[in-house]
Amino acid sequence: MELTPVTKASLKKGAKILLEGGLVAFPTETVYGLGADAFNPAALAKVFEVKGRPRFDPLIIHIADLKTLEKTTNLSKLNDEARRKLFTLAENLWPGPLSIILPKNEKIPGIATAGLPTAAIRFPGDSTALELISLSSGAVAAPSANPFGSLSPTKAEHVRDKLGNKLDMILDGGPAKIGVESTVLDISGKEIKILRPGGTPKEAIEKLIGAVQSYNENDNSNAPSSPGQLKSHYAPGKTLSVFNREEIIKKPYKEGEAFLFFDESAKDAWLELQPHPAAVFKVLAKNGQMAEAASRLFDILHELDNDESLTHIIAQLAPDQGLGEAINDRLLRGSQK
Ligand code: TXA
Ligand code: MG
Repeated sequence: MELTPVTKASLKKGAKILLEGGLVAFPTETVYGLGADAFNPAALAKVFEVKGRPRFDPLIIHIADLKTLEKTTNLSKLNDEARRKLFTLAENLWPGPLSIILPKNEKIPGIATAGLPTAAIRFPGDSTALELISLSSGAVAAPSANPFGSLSPTKAEHVRDKLGNKLDMILDGGPAKIGVESTVLDISGKEIKILRPGGTPKEAIEKLIGAVQSYNENDNSNAPSSPGQLKSHYAPGKTLSVFNREEIIKKPYKEGEAFLFFDESAKDAWLELQPHPAAVFKVLAKNGQMAEAASRLFDILHELDNDESLTHIIAQLAPDQGLGEAINDRLLRGSQK
């Protein structure tokens, strides 16, 4: 399938496809989404089928203005404090890489939320996504546009290579700026919890609304409250092993391995100990910046995964703060089989 450049005309065409029950892949600031009209159960069923996604794993509903919260949620079911926190978060962090779990209303079909009484609502910070959503029904359900469990797509080409022939259109808006999925925050229950670390660091949320529970504090992989918590996820086809800085710099190179360092200095320290540095190696944060590392993560993993001379990816964990939490979550889950 051809990639479609983003123009006024292609956005209109994409919106029409959505309104007619079709599937359109589109860029967001985090990763590419596989979009369907959030009010159309038949279109939503196709999303699960195309992704090979289990029906118990709910979708994120994307909106392009706060008015649409009324059409998709039932905020009267939140207590006053949760409602206040929602508006503080919305005012400061939307549009942006944050999905908030809210009580859903009856217009959102059960298949979208896997039968849950709540829905994940996201107001993305990407102009193509926002225009497409506004021109369609105003609410677009979109999981990441990759086969279930595999590496997330940060470029239109990634979508085409894995799902191309199953979609009605792929809008190409260039590489995703953030590169890891949105943070999923549940404010619908007694405790406010991060269900998935992502593009909005925990620190940014806590600055606004106070302490929130971390995803690993409520980890229970037998009964995930958010199926993104399933252990094996975001996995490349090759085996992936993760190490901290001290471990990776001492790890001898073996044939078929690619080394993915977080920082340049770890790579240098490793090279000094290698008698035959004929290996493939990459650095995630070339300029030492976490945001840069996040934006390159999936693209580099796709590239290494597609390299037939390689059998194994050895990756260094990021410092565990800010976006580093999301990077490490993806690496750790990708390394589980
Ligand atoms: O950045 C993103 O969030 C991307 C782009 C396309 O917006 N989307 C994305 O969707 O990552 P997906 O389907 O790959 O991940 C959705 C996550 C899953 O972990 C799902 O379990 C969780 O959100 N989720 C959705 N609705 C939920 C609900 N009602 N309660 C708990 N978790 C929910
Ligand atoms: Mg996904």
